[in-house]
Amino acid sequence: MSVRKIGVLTSGGDAPGMNAAIRAVVRTAQYYEIEVVGILRGYSGLLKGEFVEMNRRSVGDIIHRGGTILHTARCEEFKTEAGRALAVKNLQEAGIDGLVAIGGDGTFRGAMELHKLGVKVIGVPGTIDNDIEGTDYSIGFDTAVNTALEAINKIRDTATSHERISLVEVMGREAGCIALMSGLAGGAESILIPEKEGSIQEVCDRIIEGRNRGKLYSIIIVAEGAGNSMEIGKRIMEYTGLETRVTILGHIQRGGSPTALDRIIATRMGAGAVELLKDGVSGKAIGIQGQKIVAVDFTQAIAKMVRIDRELYDLALMLAK
Ligand code: F6P
Repeated sequence: MSVRKIGVLTSGGDAPGMNAAIRAVVRTAQYYEIEVVGILRGYSGLLKGEFVEMNRRSVGDIIHRGGTILHTARCEEFKTEAGRALAVKNLQEAGIDGLVAIGGDGTFRGAMELHKLGVKVIGVPGTIDNDIEGTDYSIGFDTAVNTALEAINKIRDTATSHERISLVEVMGREAGCIALMSGLAGGAESILIPEKEGSIQEVCDRIIEGRNRGKLYSIIIVAEGAGNSMEIGKRIMEYTGLETRVTILGHIQRGGSPTALDRIIATRMGAGAVELLKDGVSGKAIGIQGQKIVAVDFTQAIAKMVRIDRELYDLALMLAK
């Protein structure tokens, strides 16, 4: 056995399904008689030595819960050389010889540095943004899209009743995946995303064209990173002269019970990460492609190529006319 005691942590923004992944890590490790230590508050807890022993029972009754029982944080100190050296020392002193890091690209960047320092580490993609390369899905994305969609449905009721324009801001500082998928499923008329230059003029022209064809309301989805949605709403109202309202969904998208898809991929990825460590693999991020669990290098996982499917984007706009 190449590992005897592994650590597991969640870092960066929380995502629904992280708990299901932690459960799978702990129980798979226990199946192989590998000890598991929970590291609290991500890399921050790693630097402070906030370690808790975990067993099968410590992950009971969590598969359906949002958030992360290990808590999470964003840690500046870990980005320094001294911080990372302290992390390696703390792991060695605790006898932890393998690490599962669950989180987004920032988490993977940190994990890659630890790998370079000789720590055996596997990343599990947990972010609602779905902006990790080498995997079709990251844990939390499906739940976030469904939460956004539920809100869009409700906003649509009031938008149609009042014959208004409703702008809905969804999360995604650098990624438009939630915006595209919730916009496609919610029948949005325009979708503004950071990956694509989109002009407010274009959005207004579509609204006016729609009105001329008898469409009396509009749903516009704006990803957080595509601009200030309050400002965009104001400009649309000024240009079109139509009543416009803006709803910012915010952190509501990060909470809630994970969907079946998120629980299933979290479970498979968590178990897969332990299998890789057991087989002596390190420096990889686990992912799912089609129905298969795969492992890609951290450098590929964090490459952040544009992940927006242009065909889906065009389809959403074509159908919303
Ligand atoms: O990365 C996930 C995410 O929810 C982004 O979509 C969002 O921009 C960011 O985290 C918000 O982070 P915080 O909760 O730290 O403000």
